[in-house]
Amino acid sequence: MAKIKTIGVLTSGGDAPGMNAALRAVTRAAIFNGFNVKGIYRGYRGLVENEIVDFRAQDVSNIIHRGGTILRTARCDEFKTQEGRQKAYENMCQQGIDALVVIGGDGTLTGAREFATEHDVPIVGIPGTIDNDLYGTDHTIGYDTALNTIMWCVDRIRDTANSHERLFFIEVMGHNAGFLALNGAIAGGAEAAIIPEISIEKDQLAQLIEHGFRTTKKSSIVLVAESPITGGAMGLADRVRNEYPQYDVRVTILGHLQRGGSPTAQDRILASRMGAAAIDALVEGQRNVMIGDDDEKMVYVPFNKAIKNEKPIDRHLLDTLSHLAI
Ligand code: F6P
Repeated sequence: MAKIKTIGVLTSGGDAPGMNAALRAVTRAAIFNGFNVKGIYRGYRGLVENEIVDFRAQDVSNIIHRGGTILRTARCDEFKTQEGRQKAYENMCQQGIDALVVIGGDGTLTGAREFATEHDVPIVGIPGTIDNDLYGTDHTIGYDTALNTIMWCVDRIRDTANSHERLFFIEVMGHNAGFLALNGAIAGGAEAAIIPEISIEKDQLAQLIEHGFRTTKKSSIVLVAESPITGGAMGLADRVRNEYPQYDVRVTILGHLQRGGSPTAQDRILASRMGAAAIDALVEGQRNVMIGDDDEKMVYVPFNKAIKNEKPIDRHLLDTLSHLAI
């Protein structure tokens, strides 16, 4: 393998709080280890369109606390084609980039895996997504901040839900995974979470209504994971209006609010550790691995494992949620 002199770094897919902290860590750890760093704008699109700049240590100053990503992000259709990836490779070579660190979610790692099978490029991935849906890591960067934002919103909705004695469905993001909904429900003291992982097994809404909501109070909050499988908050509210008209039901969809804001301490620390670990991985000759957080230890997870496997939800948490909602 050719010696790595210059590392390119990019953020891709949906942004996540802590991506800037990861960019800072990758850049500084790389420079500390004697590498040059180049920042690639707008994810893979910047690689295809050659939007690449030199990154010095001071270019990542004062960003650890900022949400979003200073490199911007995008979802790039051209990179999904072989021609697009060929263009990206030519730009990389012309820029003297020998290795890549890509920060993003499932789509980002899938793109990296495709690229690495066609071209001889060492790539290390850093899991950056609020969804927390990547196998091989306990947490992804941005998840903790989004969870805290959800908790903050649930606390506020509770005030009005309680005053009006209403049933609220609060829809959260997650891209077909229920981590935000389930843990958001526990943190927010909600009555239930409706998540795609168990929607196929049972009709969670019917079960909830049959068991009755909390007997000790008249308002109820249910977190719903966005997904065609759960029916989303709107779908569930429509069902309640038709099937259980005794409930005064309202819907709040938190949407992109969940993706913004200054990262929590936990996300900044995770991003800093993962950024430094990505450079360690390249120094050790690793390629095509994602950095994972396994019980507080930084580990290398092959792309195939991270992308192909479904990350399981902890079913004990569902029991905890329902036991506490009596
Ligand atoms: O993957 C992150 C995520 O925020 C998902 O939770 C959500 O489904 C999706 O991105 C929304 O994407 P966009 O910002 O492109 O609408």
